[in-house]
Amino acid sequence: MTTTRRAHDVADLGLADAGAKRIAWAAREMPVLAGIRRRFAQERPLAGLRIGACLHVTAETANLMLALRDGGADVALCASNPLSTQDDVAASLVAHEGISVFARKGEDRDTYYGHINAVLATKPQVTMDDGADLVTELHTKRRELLPEVVGGTEETTTGVNRLRAMAAEGVLSYPIVAVNDAMTKHLFDNRYGTGQSAVDGVIRATNLLIAGKTAAIGGYGWVGRGIASRLRGFGAITLVCEVDPLRALEAAMDGFEVTTVADAVSRADLFVTATGNVNVLGKEALDRAKDGAILANAGHFNDEIDLRYLASLATSTRELRPFVAEYQLRDGRAIVVLAEGRLVNLSAAEGHPPAVMDMSFADQALSVEHLRAHARELEHRVYPVPQELDEEIARQKLAAMGMRIDTLTDEQRTYARSWKAGT
Ligand code: NAD
Ligand code: ADE
Repeated sequence: MTTTRRAHDVADLGLADAGAKRIAWAAREMPVLAGIRRRFAQERPLAGLRIGACLHVTAETANLMLALRDGGADVALCASNPLSTQDDVAASLVAHEGISVFARKGEDRDTYYGHINAVLATKPQVTMDDGADLVTELHTKRRELLPEVVGGTEETTTGVNRLRAMAAEGVLSYPIVAVNDAMTKHLFDNRYGTGQSAVDGVIRATNLLIAGKTAAIGGYGWVGRGIASRLRGFGAITLVCEVDPLRALEAAMDGFEVTTVADAVSRADLFVTATGNVNVLGKEALDRAKDGAILANAGHFNDEIDLRYLASLATSTRELRPFVAEYQLRDGRAIVVLAEGRLVNLSAAEGHPPAVMDMSFADQALSVEHLRAHARELEHRVYPVPQELDEEIARQKLAAMGMRIDTLTDEQRTYARSWKAGT
């Protein structure tokens, strides 16, 4: 199928057929989103709505774009990370689906922001962000477009944190739904999605045997928990570094050795950061990193490993394989960094599998529908995904997985609400 080509900037439209196959393959594992897409096609709840999306341009995201388009929206998409774009998927969306896409894998910073501005030029009424770069660009450099915007959604922890900071400072100009905070999102996407795909990224980049290696994780939040559990599953001796005593204790009782970054990095063959914070592997850590250590990041931004400092210690750097850079240091050590310290799962692998993005993107689609109906009643702050939508997505996912659950009897419902019955 070919269709009218909208404004776009993608690497190679000749990749479109390969992208279409990839999008169709992902769709097989996205039944909840498919159900929403069918309903959207009938009801057209987003008719005429202009959506500006800044997401990882993957096969899973393509399926979300198609659901929104079938719901009547006019969608423009750019990348939320310079390295996460699947060029074939971007090409198919443009060539086959008539969707505006501005994304090229490996784009430089200027192109990245140029693409965000190309999406903003479509005058979105709803923003859909992953990390809040679109929203911050809009609020700092394109304020003239703000009156058009009725609401937005945010996909990831770091983005939600930034938007909450904006709301706290009173500078957020429209309501945002925090998709990340839905249970059907972070419980599964951040934990099982990143748990699997970050390890997949490390393995695809390096072909490393994980069994018997010492691996360390920075951060035991939703993402860190997932990666730690998967690395342990592969047979790594797994260390966890945390700053929050409760999460550190949880890691300890989950059976991990909890220690400081400085200690872990001196012992780890592989260190994966997943904090959303800056310079977790900073100067002190990099000074102590074990010779031959492989460093990777699964947190949103490429700020978790101080690559500038590492470069200042190096006499040379070389690419050993795609996404594998070796820094030869003056003191004789060699340190390996994967995917320039960017999200290893989306740069060196394909990001989360579609079965988990099914729920995250069902949350996105239903949140946009919710905003279309209710944005005018909302204040300029960060809102949760309505609980009934979250529960409905869980129900649909369970049904698609062929799982059944019980419901409370009337007696149990009454008992659960009462205080009188005791010993
Ligand atoms: P979270 O808030 O649940 O967990 C982060 C944890 O890091 C917290 O427990 C915090 O105490 C800890 N931490 C902060 N600074 C630290 C430091 N200096 N040393 C050790 N621990 C530290 O967040 P999350 O949902 O786990 O997300 C983590 C990051 O991953 C965010 O940037 C998020 O946007 C990103 N993310 C990435 C993907 C992906 O596909 N790669 C998917 C989801 C989320
Ligand atoms: N974030 C993590 N994995 C993803 C994927 N496969 N598609 C879009 N965003 C993602």
